[in-house]
Amino acid sequence: MIRLNHVAIIMDGNGRWGIKNFKNRTKGHEYGVKNIKPIIEFCIRNKIKNLTLYALSKDNFIKRKKGELNNIFYLFEKYLNDQKTFFEKKKINLTFIGEKSGLPKNIKKIMSSINKKPNVLNLNLNLCIAFNYSSKLEIIKSFKKTLSQNKALNIKNIEQNLYTVKSNDPEIIIRTGGMNRLSDFLLWQSAYSELYFVKTLWPSFTVRKLKDILRKFITIKRNFGA
Ligand code: FPP
Repeated sequence: MIRLNHVAIIMDGNGRWGIKNFKNRTKGHEYGVKNIKPIIEFCIRNKIKNLTLYALSKDNFIKRKKGELNNIFYLFEKYLNDQKTFFEKKKINLTFIGEKSGLPKNIKKIMSSINKKPNVLNLNLNLCIAFNYSSKLEIIKSFKKTLSQNKALNIKNIEQNLYTVKSNDPEIIIRTGGMNRLSDFLLWQSAYSELYFVKTLWPSFTVRKLKDILRKFITIKRNFGA
């Protein structure tokens, strides 16, 4: 079995998938949400401890049409409500990273109610959802916090104040949807990550495709500059 600590995924391509299959972007988001569960279950089966999913970037939040954003918020809230028992049963600890400010009240409320819940014992997976997230802002915040703690600006101290302090850097970052870029996702944490850009649109991304990526990953010698 492959020993992996952290996999991160940029789930891109919902809109195009929806247009292609239903002439409707929202349908793409709906099917994109459905596609998360098998990936989570695969991570649990393979003892991958941390899975970070890029669901909404700060730029998506600023630049997407209001109607589409409202649909995204609706699907996000529905997902969090619908999956509560699944998360409990599977011993999944759910957290969020990103900017809370500006999000609708109901979204902030459900996020903080999930953040407040007691720690899960015998945890199987830390699932982190990046929502209204910007890596550049995360880095700025970390610098500011480090300075406010009167600590030196060094790598160790900056990392202590990043959202990913507990999960560590991802070994693998996958982006579906055909674009070869990180789009303001985990820019600091990806310094030594293996990057996999796949053409498949997120709703069509399968566990089989994830397995193919992991198979490639184990053949790679990671030197970390050595
Ligand atoms: C990327 O596809 C998807 C998004 C920007 C939003 C996805 C978020 C949700 C559906 C909310 C629920 C999320 C979770 C994790 C439960 P795109 O629209 O950028 O696709 P395109 O590149 O084809 O336009």
